[in-house]
Amino acid sequence: MQTDSVAARPRFFDHVAATRADARAELCRTLLEPTASIPPKFFYDRLGSALFSAITELPEYYPTRTEAAIIAAHRDAIAHRVGRGATLIDLGAGDCRKAASLLDVLAPAQYVAVDISSAFVSQALDALQRQHPALETVGVGTDFAEALWLPDAVRAAGRTFFYPGSSIGNFAPSDACAFLARLRAQAGADGGLLIGVDLVKAVAVLEAAYDDPLGVTAAFNLNVLRNVNALIGTDFDVAGWAHVARFDPAASRIEMHLEARRACELRWPGGARSFAAGERIHTENSYKYTAESFTALLADAGWAATQHWIDPRGWFALVHAVPRAGSAAGPVPA
Ligand code: AVJ
Repeated sequence: MQTDSVAARPRFFDHVAATRADARAELCRTLLEPTASIPPKFFYDRLGSALFSAITELPEYYPTRTEAAIIAAHRDAIAHRVGRGATLIDLGAGDCRKAASLLDVLAPAQYVAVDISSAFVSQALDALQRQHPALETVGVGTDFAEALWLPDAVRAAGRTFFYPGSSIGNFAPSDACAFLARLRAQAGADGGLLIGVDLVKAVAVLEAAYDDPLGVTAAFNLNVLRNVNALIGTDFDVAGWAHVARFDPAASRIEMHLEARRACELRWPGGARSFAAGERIHTENSYKYTAESFTALLADAGWAATQHWIDPRGWFALVHAVPRAGSAAGPVPA
């Protein structure tokens, strides 16, 4: 098909390469902690992003499907809350499918897709742009866990942060509060937040979603070792590790680990560590909230929830929030 000559093209800003040294230093540090860990953002190399997309198709993995149904059922009400002409900033945009389902009703002035998986999101944004040739789009490859870097090309007016999928669950509550407070500061007084939250439910449902019988989640978890090998030159043997996923009711979180099948010695340029058989590397937390506990977290971070949309089973919430009156739009302590 001939492309319209006035069709917009995504402007893409890759900030990942500039921060790769920090990422490497972070990995070397977390691997040497008494209980070794790998931050979950390292799941998302190209294959990891593709494996996550496959997870969202699993019958056991309800969050994506449930959230999509909530969006489909309440499109007009969501659009009414967000308002037309927003600067829609999609955090962890990935394949951009969730935002794509809302673009028609939201009619944003600009769509900004942010993801740590630069190549993956850039390709997804190109495809989205072909579907929406007149939409002004910006792509940003960056790790936003500690600070959200945005290029000047991102409009300042009417910023609505879209953080779907319950990725906020990857942060411990105190870190989630600090993260949401930073968004509050970057949103400005006329900004907003549209965020997905996974809710507490039966343990069997939760654990099946993170330990599926096809082994897709196991592959997603194990793939982090390949990515770490590529990033810092470790010599992880994927076959020597097993996927573990458990719900911890006291902390209200799913924990994912990789467990050593046998004792092993890990080496990389500048470091080494031995693991005993059965020793674990902590790779992910996925916190589950109640509607009330999440509203309280938002309030602590300077956001006032205007509306919750919840599916009929009460499994997932999509929440819209606006800056709380009187809360300062400035840095907030962690
Ligand atoms: C992308 C962080 C929302 O926690 O459910 C899916 C990642 N991990 N299966 C989640 C994930 C294992 C997912 N988030």
